[in-house]
Amino acid sequence: QDKYAVFGNPIKQSKSPAIHGAFAVQCGEAMQYRAVRVDRDKFEQAATRFFQSGGRGLNVTVPFKQEAFQFAGRLSERARRAGAVNTLKMADDGVVEGDNTDGIGLVRDMVANLGWVVQGQRVLIIGAGGAVRGVLEPLLRERPRELLIVNRTAAKAALLAEEFGDLGSITGGGFTLIGERQFDLVINASSAGLSGQAPDLPSTLLTERSCCYDMVYGAEPTPFMRWAAHHAAWAVADGLGMLVEQAAQSFYIWRGQRPETRPVIYQIRQAME
Ligand code: ATR
Repeated sequence: QDKYAVFGNPIKQSKSPAIHGAFAVQCGEAMQYRAVRVDRDKFEQAATRFFQSGGRGLNVTVPFKQEAFQFAGRLSERARRAGAVNTLKMADDGVVEGDNTDGIGLVRDMVANLGWVVQGQRVLIIGAGGAVRGVLEPLLRERPRELLIVNRTAAKAALLAEEFGDLGSITGGGFTLIGERQFDLVINASSAGLSGQAPDLPSTLLTERSCCYDMVYGAEPTPFMRWAAHHAAWAVADGLGMLVEQAAQSFYIWRGQRPETRPVIYQIRQAME
């Protein structure tokens, strides 16, 4: 059996083994996939040992995505842009390749699964951390009319807008940039909701056609999802589909097969309730 794993810390809550296990069964692939808790200062050592002992591919999650970026011997354009790697693969020539599938996962979930439109739309992103940097390239490839990034620390959003400015119409700064403007698609990538608060957003933000996506997921609707529902968003979703879709893209990179994601999203959702 070919060896795969996800490295993270913490790792107990990881759904990746269940997701990849389901993909493997579905596609008839002989592979094992384990979740490994790696000490914070031991990523390079652990990854080196994993590949030396015949490991074929790794997923990398918090807090090691930047270290995986450093570790990769070759990078996809997407990963280079993201400055972070969530998928490592041992290539045929013995070089470990790094890619980032988070943005593709987000776009596939919104466009293919949920049927939302990004192209030509006004898009707002809340947050300017690693999660946002990781998804900007694939999101901008969908050619939104405009993209505004707002963040508590305004300078981080402004910097991201500058770095990705060659890929589309993108602005970044503090929450005050929203003003009374309206957006077709609002994506929350701020971790503020993890501590229970919804971001402080103007009640004029949504139209009756606006879609709201929270990159976080959980058994209960997140504070941002509750805010969106309360303000009569057209559609609201959490990030579970993104999680499964980024895994599907990793699986494709490793095995050359595209698993069916819908039944797996359903299965993981059921297990969470
Ligand atoms: P991730 O990998 O999830 O992006 P991160 O890089 O730590 O994690 O980024 C967390 C994001 O949530 C940042 O945009 C952060 O805002 P700052 O850049 O100002 O720190 C945002 N965030 C976290 N806690 C927040 C809070 N209580 N209020 C507003 N924004 C918050």
